[in-house]
Amino acid sequence: MTATRILVTGGAGFIGSHYVRTLLGPHGPAGVRITVLDKLTYAGNPANLDPVRAHPGFRLVQGDVCDAAVVDRLVAEHDQIVHFAAESHVDRSILGGAEFVRTNVGGTQVLLDAALRHHGRGRGVFVQVSTDEVYGSIPYGSWPETHPLSPSSPYAASKAAADLVALAHHRTHGLDVRVTRCSNNYGHHHFPEKLIPLFITRLLEGRTVPLYGDGLNVRDWLHIDDHVQGIELVRTKGRPGEVYNIGGGTELTNRELVSLLLEACGAGWESVEYVADRKGHDRRYSVDCAKITLELGYEPRKDFATGLAETVSWYRENRDWWEPLRQRAELGQAVR
Ligand code: NAD
Ligand code: DAU
Repeated sequence: MTATRILVTGGAGFIGSHYVRTLLGPHGPAGVRITVLDKLTYAGNPANLDPVRAHPGFRLVQGDVCDAAVVDRLVAEHDQIVHFAAESHVDRSILGGAEFVRTNVGGTQVLLDAALRHHGRGRGVFVQVSTDEVYGSIPYGSWPETHPLSPSSPYAASKAAADLVALAHHRTHGLDVRVTRCSNNYGHHHFPEKLIPLFITRLLEGRTVPLYGDGLNVRDWLHIDDHVQGIELVRTKGRPGEVYNIGGGTELTNRELVSLLLEACGAGWESVEYVADRKGHDRRYSVDCAKITLELGYEPRKDFATGLAETVSWYRENRDWWEPLRQRAELGQAVR
């Protein structure tokens, strides 16, 4: 059997590294070889890939998705691309959008150009890992994939632009592009600038946590195992030129979530500081997952209570992973 050679961009980050660990782990598909291309920005951590470092089908290349020469060489050596690399934190994009446009839009274009040269029409698969944030805020109901894009933050706008550019390469050139749009991921190895890992790590240190605005913004939480399951269904069984929403099925207000985190960390509401709201803060996200469910058989399997308890335990037991990251994480906070 010939191996499928997959180029995974951003594979040293939170979700990308879980994808790589899963595919190269004991329950991963047979005959897969993976090269991770990662710039190792503040969010990229080679230690996330330690469990697969000795795997014969694994390679890590430190490099920038905007570097056309590096990308061209790597795309030529691979059959498929799963594109995670991005600047991913909304608060940082509010401080400045330039790096978000450069990496998220420019980097995607560089990858698409190389895919056109080496894969072209009907060959290769290009999975563009995107986000529910591209649709903008929705007060009730859920967005289907056909909903017009209306992103609020510079981060979300850069992801929307990248999605459209990628889909245009399918329509114009026949490139096999598949887009996934998922809800808020949670789990272990999550950089401690995002709500769940930031709050857990601060509470474990006996510190207060900053809740934005009235705390009534709603997010749908998706465990990384389920996100990886959805991406794999799309990579292996999805259709070219299609968009697939991936949700977790657990909608919570931030206050409800914080209440669970306080309980899990043994803290009370006196640890919560209500702080000024995030600029342009989207009230609610909700994806309609009927398409991926009916067409590809996707179903979130991780029960939220179990997933959250496991996540808190992981941060309790892996202080050596997150303590050195605190300073860089607080920078993300300072920009709000
Ligand atoms: P992350 O910030 O943890 O990781 C991003 C990775 O990309 C890091 O390893 C970083 O070093 C790398 N990277 C950044 N710029 C790069 C560049 N120019 N060249 C090469 N590598 C670069 O992000 P994440 O949470 O793992 O998100 C991964 C993808 O999933 C992103 O595209 C994001 O938009 C999308 N997404 C994330 C969530 C979520 O809840 N975290 C939800 C929906 C979609
Ligand atoms: O919806 C998918 C998106 O989820 C991804 O595309 C992004 O990459 C990812 O970062 C995440 O974006 P959010 O902005 O929803 O996640 P974040 O963890 O930053 O914030 C979650 C909610 O918590 C949001 O309503 C803002 C609020 N919040 C966040 C932080 C960091 C706080 O109240 N306090 C905080 O300190």
